Amino acid sequence: MPKSSLFGVLLGCIFLMTWQTSSAASTGEYEELCRLFKNGTQIRKPGTCDQYIKCVNGEGTVLTCTSGQSFSPSKNQCVDTLANSNKYCGNRCEGKDGEWVADPTECHRYFYCLNGEPHPGICPNSQHFNEANQACQHGVDSTCVDVNNICELVPSKTKFRNENDCAKYYECNSSESHTASTCITTKKRQYFDVESGSCVEPSTIECSAHSKSGICSKSTKATFVSDKATCRGYFYCQGLSPVIDLDPMWMQCKEGYFFDEDLQVCAPAAQVVCEYNRCEGRGTMLVASSSNNCHNYIRCVDSKTVEEETCHFDHFFDETIEACTPTIIYDKCCDDRD
Ligand SMILES: *[C@@H]1O[C@H](CO)[C@@H](O)[C@H](O)[C@H]1NC(C)=O
Ligand SMILES: *[C@@H]1O[C@H](CO)[C@@H](O)[C@H](O)[C@H]1NC(C)=O
Repeated sequence: MPKSSLFGVLLGCIFLMTWQTSSAASTGEYEELCRLFKNGTQIRKPGTCDQYIKCVNGEGTVLTCTSGQSFSPSKNQCVDTLANSNKYCGNRCEGKDGEWVADPTECHRYFYCLNGEPHPGICPNSQHFNEANQACQHGVDSTCVDVNNICELVPSKTKFRNENDCAKYYECNSSESHTASTCITTKKRQYFDVESGSCVEPSTIECSAHSKSGICSKSTKATFVSDKATCRGYFYCQGLSPVIDLDPMWMQCKEGYFFDEDLQVCAPAAQVVCEYNRCEGRGTMLVASSSNNCHNYIRCVDSKTVEEETCHFDHFFDETIEACTPTIIYDKCCDDRD
């Protein structure tokens, strides 16, 4: 845990915070793979030609083509003959001696080919195997996503999530490779929505890995910075000047509390001016908006922003009763802002 006076201020603050890391716990066999793709995607099972995984609601079910058929990702169905089937499901060591080839089922597995015979191996320390340079490498330097050659399993132009960053995504190209893209530009800060395959407002997306792009700035002092997506979440940027902290730690104020960047504390939601997602972590309820002088409220459903509405009759919105009232409300979050 970094020691800094700022950290002390936040820790000493009466509001409890919860630390969360985006852990990739998996329960089902192909949940990790399915989580990357949109609902309903059918994926050829890595290392096989006749089996495929149907992803529904984040869970994978393995299905098998009728005898003799192979699953074609591009046709999204079982076919009599599959182009390149030898490459996909044959012996990857065929005709090779003294060479390493990638195991298509996992990023950190490989085969050592001896006289055409595959001998399986695993890279140490969860490193990824890179066939191009015949070596294991650190995951951060690797382009492998979940399984080797992931774009051999789905149609070209398929877009899929980058689980380490909600703003980033990958797209399969016509040569079965993936290229990386981002929804953050100099003009817009958006997150990737796998269902529509497009960049959308972060408040409409459930995100467990807020983007670290452009969060920290050059500083000699440690600072807490908004995650620029939610009102609860913030990053701890280390003061590493002259370099910028590119890997800040994400944290969250406890439910009902928002991060106040000016004061560098977590404070009750109604006291914090914040125009990012005010619904995050609040379930299904009505919350005050930071626009229109306390006359507006936001409808949250399952912690996602659904719509912003205005109280009738010039009434004010009172978050404590989740209703509009004729009594004047002076919540700091919305008062005198427009
Ligand atoms: C996913 O797809 C299935 C079947 O197509 C559908 O029943 C289900 O509601 C979808 N789930 C979501 C979260 O959209
Ligand atoms: C597909 O992407 C890979 C990796 O980025 C690249 O090397 C290759 O040239 C691309 N192929 C096409 C047809 O764009």
